[in-house]
Amino acid sequence: MKISSQIVEKNLDALRSKYSWPENRPDFKTAEWNLDGGGREIITNRILKNEIFIIVEIGVFLGSSVKKWLAVSPNVYVIAIDPWEGNWWAEYAEKNGRHELVEPFKKEDGPYLTFLSSFWEYKERVFPVRGTSPNKLYELFELGVCPNLIYFDSDKTGDDIEVAHRLFPSAILTGDDWNWGIEQGFPIRKAVRKFAKNHDYYVRSKRATWILDQNKYTLRDHIDSSIGFISNSLFLLRSKLKTQKK
Ligand SMILES: C[S@@+](CC[C@H](N)C(=O)[O-])C[C@H]1O[C@@H](n2cnc3c(N)ncnc32)[C@H](O)[C@@H]1O
Repeated sequence: MKISSQIVEKNLDALRSKYSWPENRPDFKTAEWNLDGGGREIITNRILKNEIFIIVEIGVFLGSSVKKWLAVSPNVYVIAIDPWEGNWWAEYAEKNGRHELVEPFKKEDGPYLTFLSSFWEYKERVFPVRGTSPNKLYELFELGVCPNLIYFDSDKTGDDIEVAHRLFPSAILTGDDWNWGIEQGFPIRKAVRKFAKNHDYYVRSKRATWILDQNKYTLRDHIDSSIGFISNSLFLLRSKLKTQKK
């Protein structure tokens, strides 16, 4: 969906005054942590087709996907929603061998300030929104913000997809975790498929990424979906074999 530059400017003004950055760069080392499960090109291809793009990302962590969207074009803006809080950050860093992040994450507001420091160069194009979805989606709606695309990568329930669509009916809905939760019966797949059925959408997926679409499948989609089906089946088989071995 293309939106006029006037609407974009209004959006950006509202966002800049509500979600401002601190005056000085936080005294935290920059950090990168890539959590890319693959397939994000089905999103970047969509961004490339448009001139200006306002993205809402739900579940930002240290921003590996945010960086991916920003790299597509200088006209991409990201509204980055995450609470950046809880005790789990330092433990998670420890468990994953990211020892250099344990101490910064233990500090007050450590994860949030690490994110701000890491994205300091992108201050003009990133709006850090500290809090949770769906609450923050209502706040953005009240502000009159009009996102082109909403990327879900947070608590793996998919509960906020309906809310997002109700508030922003023309936004492209997409997200991560398509392969997440084999033991839990793939909760994201369930939520996305249920949404698609109720609202007449088609689901396209590639590795961990999914996207909801209103266009019918083309031959290319059928080919992609067959490849996706085969690679998902192989993934399931491998996971089952791994569980059996344990
Ligand atoms: C898997 S990480 C996100 C990864 C990130 N998109 C990336 O590519 O690097 C999940 C994040 O979701 C955040 N989160 C959990 N529940 C949330 C909610 N209800 N709203 C917004 N963020 C949430 C967590 O704090 C965590 O940082």
